[in-house]
Amino acid sequence: MVVVSGADEVSDSTSPTPSYDRIKELREFDETKAGVKGLVDNGVDKVPRIFVHPPEALHDLPSRLGSTHSCRQTHLTIPVIDLLEATTSRRKEIVDKIQEASETWGFFQVVNHGIPQSVFEELLEGVRRFYDQDTEIKKQSYTRDLMGKKVIYNSNFDLYSSPAANWRDTLYCDMGPQPLDPQELPLVCREILMEYSKQVSKLGIALFELLSEALGLNPKHLIDMGCAEGLAILCHYYPACPQPELTLGTTKHSDNDFLTVLLQDQIGGLQVLHQNQWIDVSPTPGALIINIGDLLQLISNDTFKSIEHRVVARSIGTRISVACFFTTGVQSSTRVYGPIKELCSKDNPPVYRETTLKEYTLYFTAKGLDGTSALSHFKL
Ligand code: OGA
Ligand code: NI
Repeated sequence: MVVVSGADEVSDSTSPTPSYDRIKELREFDETKAGVKGLVDNGVDKVPRIFVHPPEALHDLPSRLGSTHSCRQTHLTIPVIDLLEATTSRRKEIVDKIQEASETWGFFQVVNHGIPQSVFEELLEGVRRFYDQDTEIKKQSYTRDLMGKKVIYNSNFDLYSSPAANWRDTLYCDMGPQPLDPQELPLVCREILMEYSKQVSKLGIALFELLSEALGLNPKHLIDMGCAEGLAILCHYYPACPQPELTLGTTKHSDNDFLTVLLQDQIGGLQVLHQNQWIDVSPTPGALIINIGDLLQLISNDTFKSIEHRVVARSIGTRISVACFFTTGVQSSTRVYGPIKELCSKDNPPVYRETTLKEYTLYFTAKGLDGTSALSHFKL
């Protein structure tokens, strides 16, 4: 077992210039190839210092605010949109709701989206089966080589570039545009991941049509631009955390894609930054969470907002979520994306330069989750 010091052993564990060999401890953790789950399985009862976040990322955690937090709870929740109505004469109303949500919250939940709840349950179980496998088996797919395999399991894609590691492990599956050979997926969740991928791709098409209309464009506009072509499925595993007030499940960030479709289990912990307040996205059985990514903010010339969100660590139990990212990422072609011409005018000139999805993804990945925006780097 790797020897990592507990957070209480260094008085300045939250200092920005730690007085310990951080790289060495990161390597030791990485070399276990067992992720955060491995630490928890080994009975860790303190958060190792590589996971301790700086004070500015921790001061407003619910676990720090204690009982005062419940008094401060707001009634605000992200909008819920019933997609069944999009197939009726009330489509315009749905488009308006999606426009409003995308311009203000950058987040909404959808119900009646066509994916049965049994598929969600099977998917969450499949992901759990993957993580519950013997470490020796999982180790075989543990890698940081993004350009190599299409199915990657690791902990913290940005382990060596971010200021603090997150309390989570991830199984990353690159499902498109080049179809994935199902044999590359772990057997324990192969069938359900293929099924879910098919269903989410279909939902993605429907959402991009609604989003195109919400931008005042032809319904096929975003699809014709290739927004629905690439799909990556990220299966996150957030083990129960012994000291949730010292770390995060996921650092505050916005997503580096066009659109994200997120399924979370019943544990909770996802928060969205809205009007300078963290708003809980409480688990809603059967619903999916949709959020605008940086690239949709870029091509919509800031009309739609890619909003920051985070996942707080929890001591109550393991949390599983599955995030579907619409982008071709590093597999992308030379196609360039900039603000859509129809959305720009003399009064609303382009605010971003053109970029490729590969350039954007490599910049985002190299920077890591450090609490700052990647999008601003592309501002004119
Ligand atoms: C992400 C993300 C949230 C979650 O994958 O970008 O924000 O609930 N995930 O896991
Ligand atoms: Ni995200």
